[in-house]
Amino acid sequence: MISIKSSREIELMRKTCSLASQTLVYIEPFIKEGVSTQYLNELCHEFITKNGAYPSPLNYRGFPKSVCTSPNDVICHGIPSEDVILQDGDLLNIDVTTYLNKFHGDTNKTFLVGNVSDEHKKLVDVTYQCMREGIKQVRPGGNIGDIGAVIQEIAHSHGYSVVEDYCGHGIGREFHEEPQVVHVGKKGTGPKMKPGMTFTIEPMINMGNKHTELLDDDWTVVTTDGQWSAQFEHTILVTDDGFEILTIRPDEQVNF
Ligand code: MF3
Ligand code: CO
Ligand code: CO
Repeated sequence: MISIKSSREIELMRKTCSLASQTLVYIEPFIKEGVSTQYLNELCHEFITKNGAYPSPLNYRGFPKSVCTSPNDVICHGIPSEDVILQDGDLLNIDVTTYLNKFHGDTNKTFLVGNVSDEHKKLVDVTYQCMREGIKQVRPGGNIGDIGAVIQEIAHSHGYSVVEDYCGHGIGREFHEEPQVVHVGKKGTGPKMKPGMTFTIEPMINMGNKHTELLDDDWTVVTTDGQWSAQFEHTILVTDDGFEILTIRPDEQVNF
């Protein structure tokens, strides 16, 4: 069952999602060569809790930290660590989920550390474009499959692959609700979108093959060929005439 949020619930979703997006704005200046992902985790934890919220990943199915930090060939669910020190040229995805007033808001961004190569910058740009065009498919009467169809088309046109083992998801009172939002697919397939639905769109795009491997820590998901991966994520509301990006940041308004 896909929950339809009431206007009161939507107001609470706007609040938690706004805090999640502000966390990404807050953390950006700290992301540089020489800092550990554990340090970034601590700063995000402090920011989220000082704003009266709980970091949803912490103890979620045993996840030990407050945000996910996924560099380079880590596709998603990287665990912050003192031992992971950012280097010039790295990519780093930080995935923030906040729990405020009983509602979750989920967003992530891939940041550039120092001087990133042109080929990796292009991966990040195309991944953002995949998310943006996927979001633009959202409208009442459309199908969830419309989203994956455009994402797949864009990624493949650049010779990239789309991760299929992890997907977007409904979100609200639960961190992960129905529907699943797969980032590949066919237009006109999947559940119909209705006003009041809230779900994430969070494509993971790989430079090499689409396959994933789970490390021994049972969380970290990496590429099987060592090539790099990027991701962006927003929480989206289906409105009466299209979409609202609940986790949009001020620097992004220009893109939509
Ligand atoms: N935030 C991730 C998502 O976009 C889920 C992370 S689960 C965790 O769905 F336990 F690793 F935090
Ligand atoms: Co998500
Ligand atoms: Co997320």
